[in-house]
Order: sequence, then structure tokens, then C-alpha cells
Amino acid sequence: MSVPDPDPDPDRTLEYAGASILIFADSTTACHAAAGRFADMLGVALRARGRAVLGLATGATPVRLYASLVARHRRGELSFADAATYNLDEYYPISPFDPKSYRSYMHRHLFGHVDLAPNRAHLLDGTVPEAFAAEHAAQYDRWIAADGGLDLQLLGIGRNGHIGFNEPTDLPVAETLALPTRLVDLHPITRADASRDFGAEDKVIPRALTLGVAPILSARSILVLAFGANKADAVARSLTGAMTSQVPGSLLQSVPGRVTWIVDAEAARDLA
Ligand code: PGA
Repeated sequence: MSVPDPDPDPDRTLEYAGASILIFADSTTACHAAAGRFADMLGVALRARGRAVLGLATGATPVRLYASLVARHRRGELSFADAATYNLDEYYPISPFDPKSYRSYMHRHLFGHVDLAPNRAHLLDGTVPEAFAAEHAAQYDRWIAADGGLDLQLLGIGRNGHIGFNEPTDLPVAETLALPTRLVDLHPITRADASRDFGAEDKVIPRALTLGVAPILSARSILVLAFGANKADAVARSLTGAMTSQVPGSLLQSVPGRVTWIVDAEAARDLA
């Protein structure tokens, strides 16, 4: 039997606005550590409730985290047999078979390699008729609540500070904190960043279904990953600035004690 590598310790830890920030030299080490934390939290939920409800994220940031979870599963250290998952977002409209869909991303990076039951791997559905999109989004929130709520929400952060596809807005903070799961328009910075996957900015699907700010903040624990210098500004503004709807990541300050940031040195560059 192979001996698991110990989870790496951070080079530096900081506290801001009730959040713990764990800083690693590079994103590979950070993803390895994040996988260890993810596995620990899954274990805690299984011991407490006999099941775990996990909020998952997509994008470039968690790819190596998922690779590390798959490796742990293959070594027999981690099982999803008693887990349910809810993804943060999905383009709208999109076929689940489109390689750019988050359904197919999840299949590629995690679902196709672990023992998660197909009827417990949930994503918002990019094929629902538009007239029923709001009803579908509200139903998604009810599924999570009926499952006992999220034990863990995994998040990335956009260069514009978005969490999920909750984009910067002019709404008062109290209204943004209450936003439910819904159909949204993507922000220009999000569309520019997604051109990486779609080939050109004008080919990016401009709308998406996203888990709302309110259900994200209801998670019992939240793990935010951010890597690279192009995330440094969003990280610093989320942690050290005032809470504002213009930087949705700053709204994580409203749930002190529940948020852990796992970042590399470049993304932490603007933190003291
Ligand atoms: P990325 O996206 O991981 O592709 O950088 C993160 C996000 O927009 O939340």
C-alpha cells in the first residue's frame, strides 16, 4: 500500500476580517493542501451526519485540486459514496455535452473518476426552457436546503472579485447578500477571461445560472482558492477593503470564522 504524502503546511498564515489566509509558495503545493483540507472536511461531515454536501467550483483554479482528490480516491483514502455535490454555476444556454459546459468539466476532472452517485452530482441545468429558469434556480436552492445545506463551499474568485457568477453590482450590500440562485449576465471582465475557453470574446455565452450570494454564504464552511498575480487585486480588495457589492468576494467578510483562503504567494502579493 502506498504511503500518502503529508499535507503541506503553509509558508505563512494571516487573519483578515475573520478569515484565515493560508499562503503557499506555489499553486501546486496549495492545491495539494486544499485537497487535504477538502478530504478532512468531508470526513468531519460524514462523522457528524453520515453524509457530506459539497459545493463545487470550476475554472482553471481547482483543476489540480480535483486531480489530487482523484489520486486520493484511487489510493483508497477518499470516497464520495456518501456525498452529494452542488456546482456553483453553469453557462446558459448550453448542452451538458458541450466540452465547455461545466457539467462536462466536472465529468472530466472529478465525476468520471470517483464513486459519486450520478443522482447526487448536481449542476444547474443549461438546457431548461428560459421561461422556467427562475423556477429551476429556486428549485436548486430547495434541493440544497432539503439535503441539509452545504457542509463545504469551494470557491474561486474572478479578477473582478466575482464569486460564482455573482458579478459586481451597484446594489446595496444588504440586497446583494440576499441574492438567490438565478440567471445572470456575465460581466465584461468575466467574458474576457472566458475567451480562453471559447476562443474569442464574442463567442463566450454571455449568460449563466449561478448559485446566489445567500446560499453560498449559508455554507457551514467556505474554502476560497486564488492563484497568480492576476488575482492579487481581487484577493486584497476582498480581504482588506470594506464590504461592497462592487467586490462580491468582500461579502465573505459577513460570515467571519467560516472562511479559509488558500492562496499562492503571487495572489497574496498585496496582503501585508
Ligand atoms: P479561474 O476562475 O479559476 O478560471 O481563474 C475563477 C473564477 O472566476 O471564479
